[in-house]
Amino acid sequence: MANTISTGIRSLCKQTFDIATPTRTTKLHIHTSTTRIPTTGTSTSVQLTTANTAGRPQRTQDEAPKATSAARMHSVTGETIALVDSVLEYSRRRILGTDTPLDKPLSEPELNRVVGTTVNENGIGASRALALFEHVLAPACITSDHRQYLAFIPNAPTKTATAFDLVVSATAVYSGSWMEGSGAVHAENEVLTWLASEFGLPAGAGGVFVQGGTIGNLSALVAARDHARRTRANAGAELPARWTIICSAEAHSSIAAAARVMDVDVLKVMPSDGGALEGSAVRAALEQLEGSAFAVVATGGSTNFGIVDDIASIAALKDDFDFWLHVDGAYGLAGMLSPLTRALFDGVGRADSLIVDPHKWLFAPYDACALIYRDPDIGKLAHTQHAEYLDALNDSNEWNPSDYAIQLTRRARGLPLWFSLATYGGAAYRNAITSSIELAHDIALEIESRENLRLVRQPQLSVVVFERVGWSGADYAAWSARLLDDQRAFVTPSSHLGMPNTRFAIINPTTTREQLVGLLDTMHPRTAMG
Ligand SMILES: Cc1ncc(COP(=O)(O)O)c(C=O)c1O
Repeated sequence: MANTISTGIRSLCKQTFDIATPTRTTKLHIHTSTTRIPTTGTSTSVQLTTANTAGRPQRTQDEAPKATSAARMHSVTGETIALVDSVLEYSRRRILGTDTPLDKPLSEPELNRVVGTTVNENGIGASRALALFEHVLAPACITSDHRQYLAFIPNAPTKTATAFDLVVSATAVYSGSWMEGSGAVHAENEVLTWLASEFGLPAGAGGVFVQGGTIGNLSALVAARDHARRTRANAGAELPARWTIICSAEAHSSIAAAARVMDVDVLKVMPSDGGALEGSAVRAALEQLEGSAFAVVATGGSTNFGIVDDIASIAALKDDFDFWLHVDGAYGLAGMLSPLTRALFDGVGRADSLIVDPHKWLFAPYDACALIYRDPDIGKLAHTQHAEYLDALNDSNEWNPSDYAIQLTRRARGLPLWFSLATYGGAAYRNAITSSIELAHDIALEIESRENLRLVRQPQLSVVVFERVGWSGADYAAWSARLLDDQRAFVTPSSHLGMPNTRFAIINPTTTREQLVGLLDTMHPRTAMG
């Protein structure tokens, strides 16, 4: 028999909870136990019920104690059972839902008006807070795992990885140290070792999952400078007045951000016409800098174009110059798992450090970046925090993930990828990545076949950048806004060398050719001009 959670719903009913947002009209008609939610296009009936709770406390939220106390928040009561069930039920619907709309942002005044005050002295109750999240706050967030989300770099987690993210929260693992989280750290390390081997790094390579590519790049570059300082000081060499990072002019903005945090300079080197940074240009930069360059960053799949730098020719310079090679593969390094594009990444095996973001093209939920060092001891020397209360951890030789990046406390954010990889195996990942590369090349051919479209560059991985001949930036903006208003796709305007364009970033294996062709068909002049 199911127990109905009714307290919050009744209070919603009393307040006539009608919500009209640009993407959904949500009206809560409360029928004692049922919340009916007509949404644009579809009508959903949602019943918030608890599972059979035989043998467990049966109190519903109606009976919850009014006074907030530590016992109320932390003990298992009928109230907590009911709200955990409703949160899991929402999560179940969202993870398994196949028609979650793209949705769109609301303005701050709109959200203020519709949401009202939720944080007050006595709380608004779980039912109301969850209803507000499901029907107002979540629909005001663009669904980044939607298969027609093609902007920036999307997110396309496997259902398995997303589901396991709930398990990570439920398990309350502290995964900064081996002492506290050995099981979780062991599983994360197996993934890092697997990735390191896929990328051609030697046995012994390892690292840590951090929040995202920005923190991964920063942590790697901090280790690189620390290493340069130590080795040069040990050799009695003079240290440069200013340290410099060399990267492509098309490198991700997080490299410049890292340099600002570290107070070092960046020398941006022009890539070839095709967009790849070449060893010859890096050689000239290294000669020009006369030893002040401590790191060269090669990009393994640029964000804008998905172009891979000529990593082999850059890595070969290590024979003649002393520098740390960092490969920023936040988006693209996953392409090394596909036989179609593996050869583009020749030379990665010589990297001193690299990153790849599972929340991009390795189908994990936000947020996770795998940061891997060729020699993890160098990362450890740079990042271990020292304090009396941490001696108990630092005095051991165990693998403490917090030693390898700018962080201390950490979530076991590599576990969703571990669970999904363990479930399906590497071949499934190779196939999924390959399918997006094939689709990108296929749609590039379609673009080339159309008179009103122009491919800006031949795609290498799964980003396709193209122009609608004759369109201004305003035309792209109007087209993009209309696609989102129609809940058809999320595709944003971009530009290259001052010329406006747009791009499809394809990482979701369920995106189809037909859908993309349909979007190209909307680029008729009248479509943009209204
Ligand atoms: C090549 C590259 N490096 C770094 C980043 C930054 O990663 P994050 O957004 O996870 O911090 C991105 C993000 O798109 C990227 O594409």
